[in-house]
Amino acid sequence: MEMKIAPSVLSADFSRLGEEIRAVEAAGADLIHLDIMDGHFVPNITAGPILVAAARKSTKLPLDAHLMIESPEKYIADFAAAGANWISIHVEVFSNPSRLRSALRLIRKQGAIPSLALNPATPVSRVVPFLGDVEMVLVMTVNPGFGGQSFIPETIKKVTQLRRLLDERKLGVEIEVDGGIKADNIEKVSRAGATIFVAGSAIFKSPDYATTIQRLRHSASFS
Ligand code: DX5
Ligand code: ZN
Repeated sequence: MEMKIAPSVLSADFSRLGEEIRAVEAAGADLIHLDIMDGHFVPNITAGPILVAAARKSTKLPLDAHLMIESPEKYIADFAAAGANWISIHVEVFSNPSRLRSALRLIRKQGAIPSLALNPATPVSRVVPFLGDVEMVLVMTVNPGFGGQSFIPETIKKVTQLRRLLDERKLGVEIEVDGGIKADNIEKVSRAGATIFVAGSAIFKSPDYATTIQRLRHSASFS
């Protein structure tokens, strides 16, 4: 699977959002990662479908909407209509497996690619029953809510475990890692089996987006 770099605009200058998105596109980004936070599932608030719509106007790159919200099924149609190509929902917000499965189906029905996200404290076993219903699993490598936090090294073994399970089942599912990804840890998560790398502060707080993205891609492509 090809390595993909997904800048998270959470660390971008929001007063120049369109410009920032065009800059990372020109710098070689593969996807644009959009963090949607509701102040309930996570202790921070960002914006809803209007953020996706604004990003949609600025780029042709696929938009990767990471929904850190409760009751995501209520908003899936709106996010898809706004132009989200990938939609990640969190396993922790569902106590009922059939509700979760319906939400993943709804994402596909709305024309987007379904993905399931899990927090650092959530075991891989929670997502296993849904591996046939998704095209991506988003392994959080920090506790969600804020950009600029430090990578939690213990999450690497979850990536390894997940990749092994996917390989055993011959499922070509992407593993996305999100939180604290930098040039000095990306090779480890890549070796463990991650294929999509979200990087917010590493890219947007760097002076030259193209050099940073190249460095991240180079370190992730160890082979
Ligand atoms: C955290 C978000 C991340 C975050 C990543 O809740 O899901 O996408 O923006 O930012 P960095 O790369 O700075 O940790
Ligand atoms: Zn995210």
